[in-house]
Amino acid sequence: APRVRIHHLQQAKLDGTRFAMLTAYEQYTAEIFDQAGIEVLLVGDSASNNVFANETSLPVTVDELLPLCRAVARSTKRALVVADLPFGSYEVSAQQGVATGVRFLKEGLVHAVKIEGGKFYAETVRAMVQAGIPVMAHIGFTPQSEHVLGGYRVQGRGDDAQRLIDDAVALAEAGAFCVLMEMVPADTAAAVDAAVSVPTVGIGAGNATTGQVLVWQDMAGLRGGRMAKFVKQYADLRTTLNDAARAYGDDVRSGQFPGPEHSF
Ligand code: KIV
Ligand code: NA
Repeated sequence: APRVRIHHLQQAKLDGTRFAMLTAYEQYTAEIFDQAGIEVLLVGDSASNNVFANETSLPVTVDELLPLCRAVARSTKRALVVADLPFGSYEVSAQQGVATGVRFLKEGLVHAVKIEGGKFYAETVRAMVQAGIPVMAHIGFTPQSEHVLGGYRVQGRGDDAQRLIDDAVALAEAGAFCVLMEMVPADTAAAVDAAVSVPTVGIGAGNATTGQVLVWQDMAGLRGGRMAKFVKQYADLRTTLNDAARAYGDDVRSGQFPGPEHSF
């Protein structure tokens, strides 16, 4: 199958079909998700929490994310690979956004980038797309702004829905190829999707968006602890790996491993 490109996502919106997106941060999961037909892989700044063990997405840096991007890009044949620009790497100016976006395409080998924020970032998006950098916009709950938003809270409820519609329209008008919405009521997300001609992606945003995204360690049950309401777990990798590690440890301590078949 040929590489997924942004026009394929646009076609999905026109056709009324859906596409799937997962995060990936290294070789084997990228390879597996690519072979499983996941259309879009996101090297999320959620690597901050899920790879580098930070409490929030804020501390992760461009220099930490770029090697993960390269690993994911090199491990895929079909998926469109998108990278998050981390906190602090695009907010200063449109020029900063262009400069950072260029690094992600040139050094990270990704095909597109994602930035958080509403219509304030329309000029940044315009400059980046003009420079040859496809941009996915991320609105609604934007984790890099959690200290402004007051924690993990649903955005776009009631009268606030119009703000998200205005943001999405401005960002799409500026050239964003897709609008991602996080933690938005399903009816608001549906209204946003209807207001823009570009495809939309949701996480905790109901079922009316063109695509859906989840953090892979949540989707596959690798991460422990409480899951957000919007997560569906499709596997229990934490238990599987725990069982494997315990069995290995027991075998080593009891002398069962290595056996003659593993010995020279
Ligand atoms: O960083 C991330 O994983 C994300 C998705 C949850 C949308 O931005
Ligand atoms: Na992110």
